[in-house]
Amino acid sequence: MRRLDPVHYDKSIDMYLISRWEDIQAIQRDPLTFSVNKGYHEQQAKGFAEEFQQILREKGGGYFPDAIMSDPPYHTRVRKLMENAFTAHRVKELEPRIEAVVSDLIDEIADRGSMDAVTDFAQPLTIRIICEQLGLDWSIKDKIARWSTAVTAQIGRMQDRAEMLEHAEQICELQHHIIGTMRERQASPREDMISDIVHAKEGDGEGSVLTFEEAVSLVRALLIAGNETTATALSNLVFILATQPEVLATLQGAVGDEKLMNRFVEELLRIEPPVRGLSRMTTREVELGGTLLPAGAHLLLMYASANDEPEIFPEPRKFDMERANIMKHVSFGGGVHKCVGLALARMEIKVAARQLVRRLGKFRLAIDENDIAFLPTVATRTMESLPVTFERIA
Ligand code: HEM
Repeated sequence: MRRLDPVHYDKSIDMYLISRWEDIQAIQRDPLTFSVNKGYHEQQAKGFAEEFQQILREKGGGYFPDAIMSDPPYHTRVRKLMENAFTAHRVKELEPRIEAVVSDLIDEIADRGSMDAVTDFAQPLTIRIICEQLGLDWSIKDKIARWSTAVTAQIGRMQDRAEMLEHAEQICELQHHIIGTMRERQASPREDMISDIVHAKEGDGEGSVLTFEEAVSLVRALLIAGNETTATALSNLVFILATQPEVLATLQGAVGDEKLMNRFVEELLRIEPPVRGLSRMTTREVELGGTLLPAGAHLLLMYASANDEPEIFPEPRKFDMERANIMKHVSFGGGVHKCVGLALARMEIKVAARQLVRRLGKFRLAIDENDIAFLPTVATRTMESLPVTFERIA
């Protein structure tokens, strides 16, 4: 498809599948023609959008459109305020805390000899860290896992009505939790991101402060975006270590070298991108990759396909840390919407990879590879469960 029909119209889902690296770059360079706002909100709760929004209004404290899933110039303001919350808690300072969280988790599983890499390792790790960042009590971790699934299901368009109702109920609960915490931080701020967001100010100009609705939507976005995607990256890491001994050996060789570790993380993200398909909608007629798209065309950006383009990444299925253009992958998107949490994500993956191979070894799948179940969504490629065995080294 990438070679012969790179802007392919798929009638069954009424979307254009964008599979080439160059075309994805063109989309990212022009956020006004290729709208995230329309693409995302059209996709949301596909087929049940009105009913979904009504439930949130009646039972969830309100329907809060995703403020970051918007277009410039509105997006520029919201993005700046969100970035401020990230700078305030610089990621480098987090490294020791992330080390401690990973170490505690490995302590809990090391003697068992087996684990579910998704539910015993990847998910609790990312949930603990994002909870610390935001200032939420991580004892609600099981709820957060459910809330994440419920929110991400709204953009994957593969839920039936019964599932939408169940997910809407979860999102109502999530919003009440966020609103309650925000009210507390409004009254007495702490050293956490929710306090930063609630009290965010870009400058003294009009419109520089987030509205309450925007703030709720940003906390929700950070909680979910920072959780599911990074957990998927960590599950992918364990999967590769358990199935590709040469990559395990590469990681063992890189573990003491900061630069090599950074390259390892980038190649992992290129070869197994957690985010597989996000949408855009054209706001005018436009040519893309030789195809004329009408206004209102719904596009699916296939990041994994772009990362696999042999003209850009020779032998794309080979895990190769020596690639000269290792940073060219699109796993974090690009342009004005490039992932705002990428430094945190990279740090979590690096620390987890380092400690996994220092303390555990001989990873093996405990089930047949073909029996691994994935979440039913096109937005991410996320394993539901990954049983593995291993040996303790330290
Ligand atoms: C390995 C982990 C991660 C991956 C693969 C990932 C991937 C992405 C991608 C592909 C986009 C671009 C979306 C688009 O083009 O429409 C994005 C945006 C975003 N990410 Fe991440 N992400 C990760 C981790 C995180 C973390 C840890 C956070 C926050 C704590 C986060 C928060 C966000 C937000 C808020 C946006 C929207 C930015 C905007 O539109 O301006 N992500 N991410």
